[in-house]
Amino acid sequence: METLDKNTYYITTPIYYPSDKLHIGHAYTTTAADALARFNRLRGKKVFFLTGSDEHGQKIQRIADEKGLSPKAYVDQIVATFQSLWNRLNISYDDFIRTTNKDHETLVQRIFAILYEKGDIYKSSYKGLYCTPCEAFWLERQTTDGKCPDCGRPVEEVEEESYSFRLSNYSDKLLEYYKTHPGFIQPEASLHEMESFIKSGLEDLCVSRTAVSWGIPVPFDKKHSIYVWFDAVINYLSALGFLTAQDNRYQSFWPADLHLVGKEIMRFHTIIWPAILMALDIPLPKTVFGHGWLVIEGEKMSKSKGNVVDPNLLIDEFGADAIRYFLLRDITFGSDGNFSRDALIRRINADLANDLGNLLHRTSSMYEKYFPKEIPELAEELGEEKDLADFAAQIILEFETAMDALEPHIALEKLWTLIRRTNKYLDTTAPWTLAKNKDYSRLARVLYSVGEVLRIVSIPLSAVIPTSAAKIRAQLGLPKDCFWQEAKIWNGWEEDKRIIKAEPLFPRIEDEKETKDDKQNEVPKEEEIEFADFLKVHLKIATVLTAERVKGSDKLLRLEVDLGNEKRQIVAGIGKAYEPDSLIGKQLAVVTNLKPRKIMGFESQAMILAAEDAGNLAVLNPEKLVKAGSIVG
Ligand code: MSP
Repeated sequence: METLDKNTYYITTPIYYPSDKLHIGHAYTTTAADALARFNRLRGKKVFFLTGSDEHGQKIQRIADEKGLSPKAYVDQIVATFQSLWNRLNISYDDFIRTTNKDHETLVQRIFAILYEKGDIYKSSYKGLYCTPCEAFWLERQTTDGKCPDCGRPVEEVEEESYSFRLSNYSDKLLEYYKTHPGFIQPEASLHEMESFIKSGLEDLCVSRTAVSWGIPVPFDKKHSIYVWFDAVINYLSALGFLTAQDNRYQSFWPADLHLVGKEIMRFHTIIWPAILMALDIPLPKTVFGHGWLVIEGEKMSKSKGNVVDPNLLIDEFGADAIRYFLLRDITFGSDGNFSRDALIRRINADLANDLGNLLHRTSSMYEKYFPKEIPELAEELGEEKDLADFAAQIILEFETAMDALEPHIALEKLWTLIRRTNKYLDTTAPWTLAKNKDYSRLARVLYSVGEVLRIVSIPLSAVIPTSAAKIRAQLGLPKDCFWQEAKIWNGWEEDKRIIKAEPLFPRIEDEKETKDDKQNEVPKEEEIEFADFLKVHLKIATVLTAERVKGSDKLLRLEVDLGNEKRQIVAGIGKAYEPDSLIGKQLAVVTNLKPRKIMGFESQAMILAAEDAGNLAVLNPEKLVKAGSIVG
């Protein structure tokens, strides 16, 4: 049964096992779901975003036993760590479901009884294999050397009286459903995998255990507990009040728009869960998307390898927004992706500190400097602004399309082309020259246009890096809350507003490990040389941190530059060719081992390289961004 678009959006994450604390892989799924939830809220959809914990089953029972705790006492502790992590990561869930909630348990029992009455569940016995970490039943033919085909760990033999669900009856119906509902299983590769799994033969599914006591009892046969996966998938309905008097959530939100899961649990979500829903005769979710795995430097995360990444430590070090941005930007959604500290730092420095942070910082500094009091009337727009406006409008559309296609990595890639283009716009309109020529209304127009792009960009960003987006908006004098339609308007920012200066949005990260390595490789004391010894010159790339004129000189600028593992002051005679502001954030080639010189009372600790063409100076900068302190040679 198809439903009309009700302007609602129901998105879910898997409910995680509280067998241990969560790692970066879990944070990945939940961050993606959060960005999609926030994006749909922006578009005025009524969103219901569900996450939670899957608390029953053999795995939890065993761990609690090992710890000498009751399963409930054990999971209570771990679930508290889930909720704290989600708060720190700014996960805007609408409900957190625990499968030990009474309402959930009641619904699971009711559904079990309904399917038993209908004949879809029947009493039998089970003899086969079981993987406890995955809580999955396997047939001999599906395993290799007694190992679980999903996780590769050993399976156990199980022989028990059990109840079974007639899953085998649903093979044709499922295949037919897939065919008539393209887009139900995404990405495409996952669809093919599920089809061949069904075609290789579906057996009935064991849905109760007698050997496991930590579970929801079968209502009419209490020595059985309900199989944990049968219990777990029903969370998507129990959170909506399904089959209760308060089922308004169910009425508004079912069928779910998107179940977001990792690829290893697609089978449960696209075969078992739909078959249960078909047996209940209720509509199926619109899409189940299986994303890839996050691996650490190419390897699967595991406790035994000791490479499990704790998202809490990353948040402590880099902040939640940087982690959220990295996960969504760096990893192609749907494929496996690599998590590495170096890649994270590169993204923070290049995209967040340099492209976005610097755009905001440069522009706010210019507002402060050129218009400390009043902002003059804005000059008419020129072609440059019209082009920028067209580009922004196009990017906003592309962002929307990519998010709807579940491609957040592409959505962000597009958005950054706008941010970079706006940095270029600043370079080419050269506000410092406008200021010099006292063309204040044109200058005001240019700064306003950058502010306008930042206003637009802050809207999609509020779905991805909500804290930073709110900071940008505060600097623009805008409220935290925003709406998607506002991103489609040009000149929506009020003309008398300004960008208020603030702390840098994302400070550049100097990777300690790299810095240490650099130090080890460094000559302890640089050899001081005369100009004649030019061939011995040490050349490096410096990033300009601050730039100002030296009082009493129209030629000299005093710069503070970053050389990777140190900062230096440079006094350079480039003041006629460059406005100080235009240099901030730029990378320059410098000589680092000339004897320091005092110039007009300031010590110059390096020399900028510049080409001179009949008095016209041009500094040398690398063609693409490199680490400050990189050696030129
Ligand atoms: N409790 C079941 C899910 C029931 S849903 C009705 C479960 N829980 S789990 O704690 O094992 O979490 C599995 C989910 O965590 C995966 O589906 C995936 O979303 C996420 N991930 C776990 N490890 C991951 C990576 N290394 N990389 C990416 N996601 C990973 O299965």
